[in-house]
Amino acid sequence: MIEVQHLTKRYGPFTAVNDVSFKVEKGEILGFLGPNGAGKTTTMRVLTGYMPATEGTAVVAGYDVFANPLEAKRHTGYLPETPPLYPEMTVREYLTFVGKLKLGPMGAAERGQRVDTAMRKAHVDDMANRACGKLSKGYRQRVGLAQALIHDPDVLILDEPTAGLDPKQIIETRDLIRSLAGNHTIILSTHILPEVSQTCQRVVIINKGRVVAVDTPDNLTHQLKGAASLYVQVDGPATADAIAGIAGVRRATASEQHGTLVSFEVEAEPNRDVRRDVARAIVDRGWGLLELRPMRMSLEEIFLQLTTEEHPQEAQHG
Ligand SMILES: Nc1ncnc2c1ncn2[C@@H]1O[C@H](COP(=O)(O)OP(=O)(O)OP(=O)(O)O)[C@@H](O)[C@H]1O
Ligand SMILES: [Mg+2]
Repeated sequence: MIEVQHLTKRYGPFTAVNDVSFKVEKGEILGFLGPNGAGKTTTMRVLTGYMPATEGTAVVAGYDVFANPLEAKRHTGYLPETPPLYPEMTVREYLTFVGKLKLGPMGAAERGQRVDTAMRKAHVDDMANRACGKLSKGYRQRVGLAQALIHDPDVLILDEPTAGLDPKQIIETRDLIRSLAGNHTIILSTHILPEVSQTCQRVVIINKGRVVAVDTPDNLTHQLKGAASLYVQVDGPATADAIAGIAGVRRATASEQHGTLVSFEVEAEPNRDVRRDVARAIVDRGWGLLELRPMRMSLEEIFLQLTTEEHPQEAQHG
């Protein structure tokens, strides 16, 4: 439904988006994750035909956004970082105005229905007659979503849809976005990690204009450390040296001690599952094995690792 290939965007000499490629399947929600200045908004502006790319191609709903910008736009709804509202118009007036632009010639009654549907989907119907300028930030964001939805587009491109919302509104907006998937293909940008793990099937992590990882949130959390590190809790006089002496263990660090309970972080040699050996060694010594589990990296840790260290994928590019 969306295919981006070798997309590059330069602002003068500065490269904001550098050779970015990814695909989004129909009905999928893709999270576009990256720190401030990573190039998320720039990529989205190119995808929505708001701005030309310097190099590369982007196809949205079967239309090349450079060769067929009008067709591509017809199939795309865009929530920009700041929803472009007119403060003096009521929500209904504003959406009717947007509807006239986006829906083309249509009877007033039919257009009114489309406005009602968009308001209902975005949960702003209770504010239909409120001036846009008097809405709270969360409602402004929802009206922005309603204007993106009004022509029932195949593709939704949402730039930080939950930015500035309170926790309750964040949950509501996430539910709303999830309910839209399936019928709509969605890209949303965020720098909030729980957002992608809770809302998105796949994540593209972008840093300094480059893609540093593409995967499911689950695979990402397995990928980097995965089963290679174990959390082990022992009841007994165990020491890090004793644990490190077990076959296949590369390193052991004591992390916590409460009375006779000691916790260790155990790092295995590459591609080696040491769980059985560790369990046996502990039990053989007569200690109690209270807990043994793979340590998964949180998405936060992965994000930090990918966006602060030299990542192998980046290194390959030189
Ligand atoms: N019109 C512009 N002219 C020059 N540089 C720009 C322009 N717009 C963005 N940039 C630069 O391009 C880079 C990427 O910006 P972009 O807005 O795409 O980042 P972002 O990932 O959306 O960040 P944020 O999380 O802060 O919204 C930044 O370094 C920014 O300063
Ligand atoms: Mg941005």
